[in-house]
Amino acid sequence: MAKVAIVGATGRVGQYAALSISRIPYVREIQLYGRPGSEPFLEGVARDLIDSFAATGTDSLVSWSSDIADLKGSDVIVFTAGVPRRPEQSRNDLALENARIVSDFAVKIGNIAPEAFILMVTNPVDIMTHVALRYSGKKPNEVFGLGTHLDSMRLKAAIASSFKVHVSEVHTRIIGEHGDSMVPLWSATTIGGIQITNLPSFTRVPIEEIMHHVKSSGQQIIASKGSTVWGPGEAIATLVRTILGNENRILTVSAFIKAEVHNIGDVCIGVPARINRKGVYPVPIRIEPPEVRSFQQSVEKIRNITQEIFSILQDGEKDFP
Ligand code: 2OP
Repeated sequence: MAKVAIVGATGRVGQYAALSISRIPYVREIQLYGRPGSEPFLEGVARDLIDSFAATGTDSLVSWSSDIADLKGSDVIVFTAGVPRRPEQSRNDLALENARIVSDFAVKIGNIAPEAFILMVTNPVDIMTHVALRYSGKKPNEVFGLGTHLDSMRLKAAIASSFKVHVSEVHTRIIGEHGDSMVPLWSATTIGGIQITNLPSFTRVPIEEIMHHVKSSGQQIIASKGSTVWGPGEAIATLVRTILGNENRILTVSAFIKAEVHNIGDVCIGVPARINRKGVYPVPIRIEPPEVRSFQQSVEKIRNITQEIFSILQDGEKDFP
């Protein structure tokens, strides 16, 4: 039985992730962590969560803390803390501001919770995953990010809707950046086990429209209701359950790659990875030439920003990861 801590549990994603994770049978304790000063809020979240347990028959412990030392003993730390992007702020400015927060926590988490996996949710998630990996001192298979898992789910739902089939009939993946340069893998997309490009109706699928929908979903939901909550919250719980249940599922997450995808590497980015109780292992894959080119561009974009962030954090002399 496991302890799962949520860093940033006062945020909307953190709160919903806590609820969703509480339903995972292997979870013994959920710890809600928030910054000093947030104690009354954390207590409220904990009490509300406990109230829900009677209805769902959940038998987990809920604790809350503003003392980072209490993360000790965690099996998984879900990291959702950070600042959201302000309208006047560039992506890189956001990256730097959150990188400072993540790097500071990662050093402490590395010391306090050496056994814990870190699941990064804070955006820009690929870069934050790499910052957490480097500063926590953990191994690459112990630190991963929500990455394009949520984008892959969004694409799955859009394809199911377009083909009017049950969502479970669709298998698909988006790799690369959790952002504009993400790459849908049509070569790895099947409906009812049939390669999507072998279905005559594929020619009528509005691919551009679907990808626009997938890429802009996060921003559109934020514009409409302030933040995305249930999508990321459920995606987080799936990843936590996959680890704790030793499920060996292959999910598309942000992970450190060396050469698994056509020898492209040295970056944390969305790739298919086998996930079990020992961690996250990118699966070596071969994809179509146009997909390789797009993935390469996505990798270069993320690698450049990551290196810029590392050099601003004045840590450029350390070796990757
Ligand atoms: C999402 O895609 C905003 O990254 C967040 O839901």
